[in-house]
Amino acid sequence: MKRIALFNHKGGVSKTTTTFNLSWMLALQGKKVIMVDADPQCNLTGLVFNEDDFEAFYSDSKKHNLKTCLAPAFEAQPKLIEAAICQEVDIQSDLGGQLFLLPGHLDLSEYEVTLGIAQELSTSLQTLKNLPGSFSYLFEETAKHYQADYVLIDMNPSLSSINQNLLMTSDYFLLPTSPDYFSVMALKSLKKILPRWAMWAKKAQMNPLLTETFYPFPVVTPKFLGTIVQKYREREGNPSKGFEKWIDDIRKYVNNELVPALRGNGSGDEMVMTLDETHQPIFKQFSDFNTLIALSQAYQTPVFALTDRHFEDAKYSGVVKDTMKQSVAKFNDVFSDLAQNIIKLTS
Ligand SMILES: Nc1ncnc2c1ncn2[C@@H]1O[C@H](COP(=O)(O)OP(=O)(O)O)[C@@H](O)[C@H]1O
Ligand SMILES: [Mg+2]
Repeated sequence: MKRIALFNHKGGVSKTTTTFNLSWMLALQGKKVIMVDADPQCNLTGLVFNEDDFEAFYSDSKKHNLKTCLAPAFEAQPKLIEAAICQEVDIQSDLGGQLFLLPGHLDLSEYEVTLGIAQELSTSLQTLKNLPGSFSYLFEETAKHYQADYVLIDMNPSLSSINQNLLMTSDYFLLPTSPDYFSVMALKSLKKILPRWAMWAKKAQMNPLLTETFYPFPVVTPKFLGTIVQKYREREGNPSKGFEKWIDDIRKYVNNELVPALRGNGSGDEMVMTLDETHQPIFKQFSDFNTLIALSQAYQTPVFALTDRHFEDAKYSGVVKDTMKQSVAKFNDVFSDLAQNIIKLTS
């Protein structure tokens, strides 16, 4: 099982949208995938359920979500964390049982402060020692139960202790960004923060307090898989001039500044893969999905999987419908390519 975190402390850069679309595509390509909604905003959970099902799900106290599954550790319950019972997502293919969701919870942030204290690494309190390894343990048990190939983690937009934990206990991470100045600013702060987190994780891995617990802190170094830039306007198939500048700036900053900082992060373990010409970090760009994003949300379906049925139901026809179908085909190609790339880099 490989854990892939979708991380950027900047909001609105398509972490959730990419988690949903990419997970579905990996599932269509035959991989068994569990999506984890680790953002208290629960947008990913909202994308999977329709509005009525969302309400119904949370009114049933027996249903598992990320918070209830972690409760044995965080609320010192006298039992071990168990594999989560996930929600199956119907990917509308002959392959059944390929895609699952571990739903989020609006109150997950209640665990932030205690996890933060536990991650200071100076505590010897028995109850706190179990926290830093608990997320990883839950994902491992759940992946084992479902025999999953991938766990994709949709993270919240912050530099919180939960994010520090989720990122540093993942096998890989993807960096969704948008082609604008604020995203470049976010990358600049990540260049400073990620090496710090790497040093912290190294210490946590060697700290006997965290290794001799019910949920040992995993020994893993997350590897940078690449960048996805999206939501720009196109002109004749290419990003329009204004957006092109920011896409270029992001590409240069990642290659020339971020990757070297991840390589020489000071912990002794590089946060990048050993790469050759055929295995380079991903740099993908997706233009604006336009109306497809609205339909995708309305029908809980990825942008690349929308069909005539959806267009007709939404009262689109003629040339407009044909243009949308062309876009669907285009996004099918880019997501398919992204999924194949990820499978290659992670196998
Ligand atoms: N390629 C895209 N084209 C158009 N809209 C997009 C695209 N990617 C994301 N969006 C929209 O942008 C907003 C932010 O995306 P979201 O996935 O929620 O970002 P994040 O999870 O990083 O906060 C959402 O309203 C989403 O529907
Ligand atoms: Mg989100």
